[in-house]
Amino acid sequence: MTAKPQTPLQPLIDAVEAAAPLDTPGETVGKTVRNTISPGPIKDALSGTWLGHALHPMLTDVVIGSFMSATLLDLIGSDEDGTAQRRLIGAGIAAYGPTALTGVNDWADAEPTDAAVRRVGLVHASGNAIALGLYASSLVARRKGNHGKGKLLGAAGAAVMGLAGFLGGHLSFTQGVGPNQTVFDEGPEEWAEATASDNLEDGKPKAVVVGDTPVFLLRHRDHVHAIHDRCSHRGCSLADTGELDGEVVECGCHGSRFSLRDGSVERGPATVGQPAYEVREQGGKVEIKLPE
Ligand code: FES
Repeated sequence: MTAKPQTPLQPLIDAVEAAAPLDTPGETVGKTVRNTISPGPIKDALSGTWLGHALHPMLTDVVIGSFMSATLLDLIGSDEDGTAQRRLIGAGIAAYGPTALTGVNDWADAEPTDAAVRRVGLVHASGNAIALGLYASSLVARRKGNHGKGKLLGAAGAAVMGLAGFLGGHLSFTQGVGPNQTVFDEGPEEWAEATASDNLEDGKPKAVVVGDTPVFLLRHRDHVHAIHDRCSHRGCSLADTGELDGEVVECGCHGSRFSLRDGSVERGPATVGQPAYEVREQGGKVEIKLPE
């Protein structure tokens, strides 16, 4: 078990991760999202498959950057009548919808297997919704000429958004929702034995471990395909959960499809492909290595 850092916000994290009453609404929301956004072009667009990178973190920069810039101008002063702040808040409000949609899409794929992720994601989203409401109220107040009230509401929005953003960072960087699941063990750089040739039957996937790396092997006609077995999306084993479709394997967890020829993503929600290996057979052994 990893030791918890004694930081000022650790009590907040502990309280949120232990908040079991959030499970019922969280499961309901997660299930609804997964049923509504099924694998295909819309899910790929929201996940960032087309970008080769999760889309949500990029959009959060727009929302947080716009709102925080408005509050910063309130604090340090601007040489106008508040037009810049109103425009910045308007930009943040406009970007909020797509940002929330990409976030809930990412979270819904992770929450069924991890209660702590479910709870933290729900509080993160709720906090951001509250911050949106505070900034929207701030904009209304400013438009009515009540700049003092607008500044106060904006400052409250910034405080809530800061805490919600902190929980979003915790989701990604501590709970591991989002990183490429193959990045820390891509596979052998020199030829390494994967299995005996006799162990591979035509058309039957086999999972092996080479060094520390789980590897998916498939003899297909006269060729042996080898790709990383841990799905880059959320880490499911392709050999255990996947379904074959010719020279494509479809992950059983969320439906990402990878080419067995080069590991590339044929369909998301994965945003990066699987490491694919060169394969040779000699002396009754199947050997693999990463391409040069
Ligand atoms: S773990 Fe999500 S598609 Fe494979």
